[in-house]
Amino acid sequence: MVVRKFSIKQVIEKTGLEESEVRFYENAFREFLAFTRLDSNQKDFNEDQIEVLIRIRDLIKKRGFTVDEVKRELKCILKKGEVSPAGARPESYARVIAVTSGKGGVGKTTFVVNFAISLALKKKKVAIFDADLGLANVHILMGVKPQFNLSHLIQDGFPLEDVITTGPLGIQILSGGQGVRELANLKEEERRSLLRQIDKLERSVEYLIVDTGAGISENVLRFASFADEIVVVTTPNVAAAADAYSIIKILLGMEPNAKIGLITNEVASMYHSKNVFNRINVAVEKYLNYSLGDLGYIVTDEYIKAANQLRKPLLLSYPTAPAAICVKSITETILNDKVFVNTRKESSFQEIMGAVRRTMVGAGV
Ligand SMILES: Nc1ncnc2c1ncn2[C@@H]1O[C@H](COP(=O)(O)OP(=O)(O)OP(=O)(O)O)[C@@H](O)[C@H]1O
Ligand SMILES: [Mg+2]
Repeated sequence: MVVRKFSIKQVIEKTGLEESEVRFYENAFREFLAFTRLDSNQKDFNEDQIEVLIRIRDLIKKRGFTVDEVKRELKCILKKGEVSPAGARPESYARVIAVTSGKGGVGKTTFVVNFAISLALKKKKVAIFDADLGLANVHILMGVKPQFNLSHLIQDGFPLEDVITTGPLGIQILSGGQGVRELANLKEEERRSLLRQIDKLERSVEYLIVDTGAGISENVLRFASFADEIVVVTTPNVAAAADAYSIIKILLGMEPNAKIGLITNEVASMYHSKNVFNRINVAVEKYLNYSLGDLGYIVTDEYIKAANQLRKPLLLSYPTAPAAICVKSITETILNDKVFVNTRKESSFQEIMGAVRRTMVGAGV
């Protein structure tokens, strides 16, 4: 078997890390990377080592793990990998899906709530992180009253379990409340503690849906980049479509490998939605060299407003309404269709397990 070798420059390109960071990881996690020439700077890296570096990077940068915590996690992966029966999917993280838009009021929260219901109806374990400061918050549309929110978690040190409200069908809701604004000013220790709590949430469910709110605020971008997949919602409105393009441009600028899909809301028909999708996707392909996933559409439907007034999600109050059918169809697309599957994450756990084991075996550990 030919083992491909990568130079440090290629590693930097693939991982987005700076050389100093790669060198730091090399030293701190040498037992997992199993380099043979650690004393002098490593010249060649193999694919497995790059996998491990990426995993370490995510744990540290996205989840705020300390070096010791990363080591524990990697050891745990290794142990699980050895004991888990062949083919069984080991404990893993939820698929994190952020829902965002350029312009406000295009139907993000309505979609988030009904998408969550649709997943829960399929017996999936779902949580919503409501990071939206808009008016119609997730809990209102779900008909629940959260007692606590993110700021109790951040500032008062409440454990995650106490801050979560359980909605219909067991959907777990973490309300952002004022805590979302406080996020920008978190101290390092608070940030770590928050990320650890979210990490706990990610392990306890299969889908974590994040309602990020609209626009190019720091919060929106932070949450979007935290996700595996990003759903951008737009309406046919020209300004909404232009803003959708802008947010996609910024998201791709931040993460060129982001998985971004588009939902067209408040359209008249499928034909209408294809028009809107194509208009945006043509521009994205031409100027950003990226192809959007077509996740589907939601028709304009008065039942949505009626459901909102009832404070009962459309899929539960009017399950056969036209928009409810559309949401179910989008759910199928997100679950089954390759158009939006983040293959990296789906397989990364298995890959990393293999990678860590191979490198450790190589080191004779
Ligand atoms: N397909 C639809 N048909 C009819 N009305 C809709 C549809 N989708 C959303 N709406 C209505 O549009 C309004 C805005 O929806 P929603 O609150 O979900 O948008 P949002 O993007 O979350 O807004 P914000 O940016 O303020 O958070 C609500 O009154 C909602 O009932
Ligand atoms: Mg909203």
